[in-house]
This record gives sequence, C-alpha cells and structure tokens, in this order.
Amino acid sequence: MSSKRGAVAPFLIMEALSEANRFAQQSDKRVLHMSLGQPGSSAPKHVLDVVTDRLQTAPLGYTEAGGMLALRQRVAQHYRDEYGIDVPYERIFITIGSSAAFLMSLLCAFDKEDEIAIALPCYPAYPNIMQSVNITPVFLRGSPEHKFQPTVAALEALPHTPKGLIVASPSNPAGTIMDDGELKVLAQYCDAKHIRIIADEIYHGITYGKRANTILAHTDQAIVVNSFSKYFLLPGWRIGWAVVPPQMTRAFTSLASSMFISPSAVGQYAALAAFDCKGDLDAVVAEYAANRKIVLDGLTAMGITRVAPVEGAFFVYANVSHLTDDSVAFCRKMLYETGVVTVSGMDFDREQGHHYVRFSFSGSTTDVTEAMERLKGWLA
Ligand SMILES: Cc1ncc(COP(=O)(O)O)c(C=O)c1O
Repeated sequence: MSSKRGAVAPFLIMEALSEANRFAQQSDKRVLHMSLGQPGSSAPKHVLDVVTDRLQTAPLGYTEAGGMLALRQRVAQHYRDEYGIDVPYERIFITIGSSAAFLMSLLCAFDKEDEIAIALPCYPAYPNIMQSVNITPVFLRGSPEHKFQPTVAALEALPHTPKGLIVASPSNPAGTIMDDGELKVLAQYCDAKHIRIIADEIYHGITYGKRANTILAHTDQAIVVNSFSKYFLLPGWRIGWAVVPPQMTRAFTSLASSMFISPSAVGQYAALAAFDCKGDLDAVVAEYAANRKIVLDGLTAMGITRVAPVEGAFFVYANVSHLTDDSVAFCRKMLYETGVVTVSGMDFDREQGHHYVRFSFSGSTTDVTEAMERLKGWLA
C-alpha cells in the first residue's frame, strides 16, 4: 500500500501510449501520434555541437543550486528582450524542468492544507503534485466563453478565498491565451487578496498571431514557472526555470540545494546554447502553425467545430459530445480502427472530459496530414 500522498491518479495518456505501442507491434498500420505533449523536432544542431564540445572540455560537476550564473543572466536578458522588463537574475532559478520549479514553488509559498484554485481542464500533474504535498486543489469550472481560463468572478464565487491560483497561458490542453488586460486584472485582484499566483508560461514562444505576455509585467508577487522543454526543443534535457518574488529567493535557494543539489550541468549548457537558435526555433513554430491549420480545417470538415480557440501551444481541445459520451472508449476505438493516437479529455477534467479529445499537432506535417486523412475516412 502506498501512502495517501502517493496515491495520485495515473496519467491516462501513459496507458494510451502503452496501448498504442502494443497495437503498433501487432498491426501493419503505421501508428500516428496526435498525442504528444512535446515537440516532434529534436534539439537544433548548434545545441548539439556546443554540448559535444562541453562533453570534452567542461568539468560537468554540480553547478550552483540555482543554476549556472551565465544561464540565469541569459534568462534575465530574455525577459528584457521578449517582454521589455527587468528581472534581476537573483530571482531566477534554473530547475529540473518546470516540473521541479512547480514542486519547489508549492513548497516555498504554501503550507499544508492551503487551497489553490485551478481552472478545468488543466494539466493533470498540477493537482497530483498538490495532493502529494498535502495542498488542496480547488477546481474552477472553466467555460468555453472564458476560454477555460480562470476569472475574478470564478474566484469570487468560491466559498472562501484560496491561498493560491494557477494561471496557465497558453494552456494545456486548451491552447488558449489570456489577454494582457485580463492578466493584469487577475494579477491586481490576487495581489489585493493575497492570493499567490503560480503562472505556468511554458508554452510562451509558441503562439499564433496573438502574443502571450508574462504575468511579471503586472506583479512581482507571482511565481513564474517556465521551461526549455517546448519552444526551446529540449524536453529530455530536463531544464526549466522559476522566477520567484524577491522575498522568496532565500527559501528557494535552500530548498533547491537540499532537494536536488543542482540541475544537470550538461542540460544547462544545452539551454544556454538554445538561446542562440532563434531561427531554428521559430521555423519549428512556423511548422506548428501549418499543422494547426491542417488540423482545424480537417476537424471542421468532419463536423468537429466546438474547439477552444487555438492561440498557442500545439493542441486542439475539441468537444466531441455529438459523437460520444465516453471519450476514453472513443480514443481507443480510433486507435484500433485508424492507428491514430489521441488523448481523452478525462486526463484534464474528470467531470466533463468524457466529452472532449485533445489532438496534438506537434508532429511532422506529413504525419499530421496523414492522420487527418485517416480520421476523415473513419468519421465519414
Ligand atoms: C502545461 C505544462 N506545464 C508543465 C509541463 C512540464 O514540463 P517540463 O517539466 O518538461 O518543463 C508540461 C509538460 O508537458 C505542460 O504541458
């Protein structure tokens, strides 16, 4: 028996992936993944060249707990270049993906039994990690009108004020972006009510027309988690970062050194080099944009039109309630009959996810095109 804290719900996507792997072994159909939560492209060549060099020449020991100075300073530069704001590097901590940044943020800023609000549908690791450290997720029912994002009205409707709020923009699974005005209103409201925001900005850089602003433009009291796993194409290198409020830097440093000693040195060299690859990284975003159009056009042609506006990330979160009341069974049938792997909305929303499917378009344009052709034939 595991502890109560350890008894978190498994990701359904993992089960779907194992099933897809078993199916791939038996079937002569090539399995096409519209399930991936990571870029289909690998690290830019320049990153690999730099890392190859560092493997020969750098000591690759532990680094400072908060990360290499050069990388923290480079992230500070990124805030100046991308958002026109000054964030002192002392508030920036390099972490083992944004996943570790999130865990450390919970530990630094919240106590046992605190409540943190989060809009549904959401990235499932968040409530799971909260549960594992005895923090209570309080779910806000996201609605298509508000692009499944949290609102002041939804917070006001809670029986009592939560201690924290998760903001994810662009979000996973919905891919929606909070307008800067809405972000500002939310930040000001939360500061006034002493609600600590954790803003997940991991999909920044992957947007289609509309820009996602950082919450740090409106408050220095939010914690931001971000990562090199998405726009920067380095998911397996396990490097992310957190920006913490000025009064939290000491606690963050102590926790980081006790829990992890330091993030991977080689991963940090890769991350530093990735900042010099904007051309390659933006070319991948252009491919996502082409894929996005293929998927949205394809779904429309199939009569699947109730989709959240895909403003960022690489997902379409589609309402399929006219086709099924059980999206887990629907996705499984789709796999066996077409070889296309998708994710049921149940991973992101246990209450209403049975009516939703998440389609990822982070794969190659060739695969995305073929997957949509197969689905068109299937649904016809
Ligand atoms: C919304 C969101 N946040 C955080 C993560 C964690 O990513 P990482 O730990 O690789 O930075 C993911 C991964 O898929 C995600 O989709």
